[in-house]
Amino acid sequence: MKRVITLGQFIIEKQADFPFAKGELSRLLRDIGIAAKIVNREISKAGLIDIIGETDSVNSHGERQKKMDVYANEQFISALRSGGECCVVASEENDEHILIESEISKHAKYIVAIDPLDGSSNIDVNVSVGTIFSIYRRKSVDGKATLQDVLQKGTEQVAAGYVIYGSSTMLVYTTGKGVNGFTLDPSIGEFCLSHPDIKMPKDGNLYSINEGYYTHFPLGVKKYIKYCQVEDEGTNRPYTSRYTGSMIADIHRNLIKGGIFLYPTTAQYPNGKLRLVYECNPMAFIVEQAGGLASTGYDRILDLDVNELHQRSAIFIGSENMIKRAEEFMLAFS
Ligand code: AHG
Ligand code: MN
Ligand code: MN
Ligand code: MN
Repeated sequence: MKRVITLGQFIIEKQADFPFAKGELSRLLRDIGIAAKIVNREISKAGLIDIIGETDSVNSHGERQKKMDVYANEQFISALRSGGECCVVASEENDEHILIESEISKHAKYIVAIDPLDGSSNIDVNVSVGTIFSIYRRKSVDGKATLQDVLQKGTEQVAAGYVIYGSSTMLVYTTGKGVNGFTLDPSIGEFCLSHPDIKMPKDGNLYSINEGYYTHFPLGVKKYIKYCQVEDEGTNRPYTSRYTGSMIADIHRNLIKGGIFLYPTTAQYPNGKLRLVYECNPMAFIVEQAGGLASTGYDRILDLDVNELHQRSAIFIGSENMIKRAEEFMLAFS
């Protein structure tokens, strides 16, 4: 009988020396795990309770907030607030960063950036959605943490992960020592190690992109899409197109099977649609740690300067050889 290893046991027993105190990491991931279980519970019965559909409010991206966006955001902020390890939360759903000022958090050293619900357009139609988180250590040494503590390069992340609410609910994270996946066992309410040491295949035959924007893509992207569609047995083409509208689901599938996800610049999003701080950087950290690559089509995502909380970026993320091939098209046709 294989021994069940819970997330908490894994961090204490197996987590190759987290650069900082394991206790702090395990408490942070415990807090995130608690909120994830609560969000999972509501998502799994979304059609039965008044939690699908939209609110009257619009976030700073001009997106009408789904009820689940707001609910998930509240759960994660509340769990981080009461956990005591986090001094600032930066969320897709809040225009400004949120200072966590409480007795229990006054010595807190960690910044958590979060996309509380990724793929929220899918929540009403029962397609997988997720939560993305990124963890930094504050740089400022005394007084209140500041926005500068949030605007750190992706290479400064001390941990990153995501929860995918799909056919099963999984938590996948890295602290820079590889990537491990945990599946929620609802019967015991624990995330249990199910995907140790995830490695992204160097090649794949899945490509994920919203081809509806084809006319507005850069020429290099158009040429790469045609390359994916050409018959060539030697390179396993034509590839299969898979695009769900939840980056978390597309990237998770590609992490396991191999593949490439692209959200290039478009007319509507001249700097790309996806947000650097709480979507691109955490997913880039995880994919690189699993052996994949993540770039803008030209530059490494993790090296990008971070100047604004809701800064957007183009993103090409996935299997090493597929990213390199796509970048060759961007270079050749730029
Ligand atoms: P969010 O739901 O957090 O706002 O993110 C949605 C993102 C991402 O998950 C997805 O890949 C992309 O938006 C889909 O955008 P398009 O509908 O423009 O393809
Ligand atoms: Mn959104
Ligand atoms: Mn998102
Ligand atoms: Mn979101």
